[in-house]
Amino acid sequence: MIDQWGRKINYMRVSVTDRCNFRCVYCMPLQGVQLRPRDEYLSYDELLHVIKAGIGLGIDKIRITGGEPLVRPGLVDFLAQLKPLGIKDVSLSTNGLLFAPMAKDLKAAGLDRVNFSLDTLQPDRFKKMARLYGDPGPIFEAVDAALELGMEPVKLNMVVIRGWNDDEIADMARLSVDRPIHVRYIEVMPFSEAYQFTWDNLVPAAEMRERLMGEFEDLEPVREGIKGNGPAKYWRIPGAKGTVGFISAVTECFCGECNRIRLSADGKINPCLGHVHEVDLKPVLRDPQRPVEELVALMSDAILKKPREHNFSDTESDYTLRVMHGIGG
Ligand code: 5AD
Ligand code: SF4
Repeated sequence: MIDQWGRKINYMRVSVTDRCNFRCVYCMPLQGVQLRPRDEYLSYDELLHVIKAGIGLGIDKIRITGGEPLVRPGLVDFLAQLKPLGIKDVSLSTNGLLFAPMAKDLKAAGLDRVNFSLDTLQPDRFKKMARLYGDPGPIFEAVDAALELGMEPVKLNMVVIRGWNDDEIADMARLSVDRPIHVRYIEVMPFSEAYQFTWDNLVPAAEMRERLMGEFEDLEPVREGIKGNGPAKYWRIPGAKGTVGFISAVTECFCGECNRIRLSADGKINPCLGHVHEVDLKPVLRDPQRPVEELVALMSDAILKKPREHNFSDTESDYTLRVMHGIGG
């Protein structure tokens, strides 16, 4: 479907849970995460209803997100239903901790591609950033498993935070040399309880690029697209099998090319991360009297009202209250 700004919306990010086995400093508070009653979350059947309605509106790419999607039981069986519905591209965003033992089953269920979060290569820092866990080892195993199964391109997402991991930008880039790994540096977005912390410690993508070019003088821009047509811009260390890219959501708005909507674990459509407006699908989804056309109409209205761009620079705006872990990045 085309939104009012002429953008083709064919991509839905589906959060299946807001629970997580990590507590990354920029995403979740260490304590006091509100666990809500299970029936606030959509069942897999309900998620499939929404996805079918989305397909009617032109959605043909789905990314499964969380929280951490692999902590939700039954995920593989759910995933296996997406390709038969007509979804062309099925991908997953995960912190990777539980991935390696599940990799074959996920692949067999139709998973095409996977993005891993990896903010640091150093165990002591890993513990400081992800807090509930302190070993990048299983994430490396997860990357190996994904590559072995041909789930390419494998992307590694690093949320860069000044003073925490920004001195590892070059080390991460080196991972792209020998294997087809695509390292993406993500500007930390200012949300919820970590709002001030993230604003204060944002490293603009332009600065990351400059620092990387200081290290690898012959970094070359990549012209061909990397599958997934996301918002990153890619570069390559000469001869490298993979690439490095920048997701500059905060300082270099790429809203003009936005092709996505998000479905939260509790059944709300978020048309834009940078605005608090969302559309609750649950009342329609759970009322047997209300026909599927109503669901489609709600979703189509949400797409139509998708804002033109985020308003991260408006520090007074209500988007700052956004809680990230039920939305999935
Ligand atoms: N800024 C940028 N990315 C974030 N994520 C979560 N919180 C933030 C934030 N404040 C993203 C990370 C992580 C994914 C699950 O969500 O990329 O890898
Ligand atoms: Fe969990 Fe991902 Fe949030 Fe980290 S960023 S706490 S891994 S959902």
